[in-house]
Amino acid sequence: MLEIQHLQKTYSGAEGPALADFDLTIADGEFVTLIGPSGCGKTTALRIVAGLLEPSGGDVRFNGVSAFAPSREKAMVFQQFNLFPWRTALANVAYGLEMQGMGKKERMAIAAEYLDLVGLGDRANHYPSQLSGGQNQRVGLARALAIQPKLMLMDEPFGALDALTREHLQALLQKICTERHLTVIFVTHSIDEAIFLSDRMVVMGELGRVIEEHIVHLERPRSNYDWRSTPEYKELRAATWSVLQTEIERDEASV
Ligand SMILES: Nc1ncnc2c1ncn2[C@@H]1O[C@H](COP(=O)(O)OP(=O)(O)OP(=O)(O)O)[C@@H](O)[C@H]1O
Ligand SMILES: [Mg+2]
Repeated sequence: MLEIQHLQKTYSGAEGPALADFDLTIADGEFVTLIGPSGCGKTTALRIVAGLLEPSGGDVRFNGVSAFAPSREKAMVFQQFNLFPWRTALANVAYGLEMQGMGKKERMAIAAEYLDLVGLGDRANHYPSQLSGGQNQRVGLARALAIQPKLMLMDEPFGALDALTREHLQALLQKICTERHLTVIFVTHSIDEAIFLSDRMVVMGELGRVIEEHIVHLERPRSNYDWRSTPEYKELRAATWSVLQTEIERDEASV
């Protein structure tokens, strides 16, 4: 479904590239996480795929066609909620549909459906300042889902949340993705979050180099059992940890 080939990015004024040669192919319905040290180019890669940033080289092909512009087929969820403070939860969720030119009645009905899906049906008329961090991130998730994108790009969406809320939202996201057969690229710094959510984990190093990939075979839904006590979890965690440690040490040595 998505082919990212030799993606490169050098920011204007920067001494060297942020992304040197990033390659990734993603199948329809696949949940792929990107994990790697701070500054290795994860956000840069995601923003290019979303069409929010121009690459310096390489190609992004969506169902075989080069696709560098934002489109209704792609939705991005950020770490910061990016909600409009002057809009209610419902009106925030309806925003993308409004941008598509959908009439008010229809978009409000769809927005209400997606707020229900993330468990916030009873908070439709609350403003972001009246909601908790976890609730605001659920509004952000509902807003992205409401446009029914083919591809969801999520940049550390749960990074700012407390551990309990984070686990709750991971389980919710897993359920929604399975039910709706979503294709997702999800950036995280948490190995456990990556293992819990992924079909495939991609470990990145310096300049966006893909160091290794792991298919996660753990049975779904993973919220139904103690997946952390499985041998596969322990092996994946140990392998990923050791690669990330090496990358972080290399990074520190080069400073
Ligand atoms: N707007 C910008 N202008 C210049 N350099 C930038 C800009 N944005 C990012 N960079 C640089 O590009 C590199 C990659 O940044 P990026 O934000 O993609 O990393 P990341 O992997 O998402 O890191 P983190 O895990 O900390 O979010 C970094 O060295 C960063 O300093
Ligand atoms: Mg980032």
